Amino acid sequence: MKTKIIKIDGSCKDIEKKLSPAADAIKRGGLVVFPTETVYGLGGDATSSSSAEKIYEAKNRPSDNPLIIHISEPGEAEKYTYTTDLYYKLAEKFMPGPLTVILRARENIPRKTRGGLETVAVRCPSHPVARALISMAGVPIAAPSANLSGSPSPTSPTHVIDDMNGRVDFIIDGGDSDFGLESTIVKINSDGSLTLLRPGAVTLDMLSEVCDRVDVAAAVTEKLGEGERVLSPGMKYRHYAPVSPVILLDGKDEAAATYIIKNGDDKVAVLSYTERISFYSQRLPRADIYDFGSEQDEGAQAHRLFSILRDADKKNYRVIYAPLPKKEGIGLALYNRMIRAAAYTVKKL
Ligand code: TXA
Ligand code: MG
Repeated sequence: MKTKIIKIDGSCKDIEKKLSPAADAIKRGGLVVFPTETVYGLGGDATSSSSAEKIYEAKNRPSDNPLIIHISEPGEAEKYTYTTDLYYKLAEKFMPGPLTVILRARENIPRKTRGGLETVAVRCPSHPVARALISMAGVPIAAPSANLSGSPSPTSPTHVIDDMNGRVDFIIDGGDSDFGLESTIVKINSDGSLTLLRPGAVTLDMLSEVCDRVDVAAAVTEKLGEGERVLSPGMKYRHYAPVSPVILLDGKDEAAATYIIKNGDDKVAVLSYTERISFYSQRLPRADIYDFGSEQDEGAQAHRLFSILRDADKKNYRVIYAPLPKKEGIGLALYNRMIRAAAYTVKKL
């Protein structure tokens, strides 16, 4: 398939005119890669089984791993799900924005889109291109992250072109993603509590301001045991993992450098906080040092992580070393993605 690329920047005035062929493609059952504030999405008509099938195929994704449906206004959830008061409280605070809420689905969302579940994940993105595309398509857009299954979510036009060129009708190039990690996912339970299934830019503290009881699913920070029940199908798949082994180092920089030297600094990559780049470059002259952003700036780290992993993946390192993030604030989202990229390998120093 020949993929057409539509380039749109933030100040674009004729956004509707530019998006019109892509919105038509969605209506006709085609696929469109579009920017959101978190990561790029691979979208199709959420009310169509055959669009869902095409999405799974384009991504090489198992079809029991359900898709998020993207709406242009929080109230649109009413038409496709059974909403609750808590949904509207969350919507008031965090939508449009990087929050996905799992609700009981109505029958107009086909089982294929929901991976066979009774529930469906709903998200109202804040990115103006995403919102315009959804409202022009006139249907909710089902969209997983626009990466091939198993590689990191795409956060730049180059990433989506690498993964999706030739597999979709349109790629909308809206520049780099703002946040760089996927949305926070919560499930609304029947007792009015929330379960955090995937941490993101909407943090645990922020959710706790809206709901008294927020539990964190065990799989957010820990490896699931064999046969253990997962709350979100995506949790059981190996995600975000580069080909080279990733080791998370839990300790001071001095100890980290000593450990890396002991195991050889040739053909290794090191993710270093900006403040430590000259330290690591001096101590590890043969290693490739990546700037992971300032130590205090977790937003910058979130923004860079997937890009760095993708780049490192092309270079066949023996090992990729990275610092173990803290579990507070946005740190929890970084921790969740990095611990999985590292297949839970943490070296305590
Ligand atoms: O930021 C994001 O959320 C991006 C952009 C494109 O919106 N989308 C995204 O979608 O990350 P995806 O499909 O890559 O990740 C969605 C996760 C999957 O792990 C899936 O298993 C889970 O959400 N999920 C979807 N529907 C669910 C449901 N009904 N119950 C539990 N988990 C669900
Ligand atoms: Mg994904």
